[in-house]
Amino acid sequence: MPSEAVIQIKGLYKSFGANEVLKNFNLDLLRGESLVVLGKSGSGKSVLIKCIIGLIKPDRGDITVLGQDLLSLDHEELDQIRQKVGFLFQSNALYDSMTVRDNLEFPLRRHTINLSQPEVDDMVMDALNNVGLGHTVDMMPAELSGGMRKRIALARTLILRPEIILYDEPTTGLDPITSLEIINLMNVIQEKYQTSSIIITHDMKCVKIASDRVAMLIDGTCYALGTYDELNASTDGKVRAFFD
Ligand SMILES: Nc1ncnc2c1ncn2[C@@H]1O[C@H](COP(=O)(O)OP(=O)(O)OP(=O)(O)O)[C@@H](O)[C@H]1O
Ligand SMILES: [Mg+2]
Repeated sequence: MPSEAVIQIKGLYKSFGANEVLKNFNLDLLRGESLVVLGKSGSGKSVLIKCIIGLIKPDRGDITVLGQDLLSLDHEELDQIRQKVGFLFQSNALYDSMTVRDNLEFPLRRHTINLSQPEVDDMVMDALNNVGLGHTVDMMPAELSGGMRKRIALARTLILRPEIILYDEPTTGLDPITSLEIINLMNVIQEKYQTSSIIITHDMKCVKIASDRVAMLIDGTCYALGTYDELNASTDGKVRAFFD
């Protein structure tokens, strides 16, 4: 039985002035899969992912998320979708002036009402333990390493138990060993919570280990789509450029 698409992107266009970033981009994310979007710097990967969570409005095209037409949603409906679609920012976007605990409580307070303090405490510790950082709950982000901050950001994304997680460059700026730990953690989370994910990266090691399928964003379109091995066997110069 073919898998159901949890995100469908059809005919997406987005320009900034004369800069045509997305030009008829099409892609489906299937339930339970890890889909890597690969593209060189400035190709529009972050623009694409921001369109998917409604942070950037495309000029044209359709985006369906969990059966809902994203572009026709009002503020409240968009907010509800965002609870189901976790987003890990390229920059982590942790609040530097807040403790780890307060950073993790933030999405809970924003999105869920009627939680008692013991329930909140449990959810925070559960999310932190999932990324192996329970002991940092009272620390400040500045006291943590880059890899730890990435894990905390991931814990904050997980706390709302999203069905879909979008990762924007989860390993950029991390050393190879820490990168590997983050990728493994992403795989564990995918298994444990049966999430579906889009992973944006140009880290080929990440692609190889984390992807069920790979989409290549080239010249504003989904230029090539397939498994790592399928794309690695391609003789197309633009595809080869990522492997050679
Ligand atoms: N808000 C914006 N206003 C104007 N131009 C933008 C805006 N956001 C992105 N762009 C432009 O869109 C293009 C794609 O940017 P984007 O950030 O999506 O690239 P990227 O593929 O994520 O690159 P990187 O790998 O470096 O993160 C760039 O040319 C960028 O200058
Ligand atoms: Mg980017």
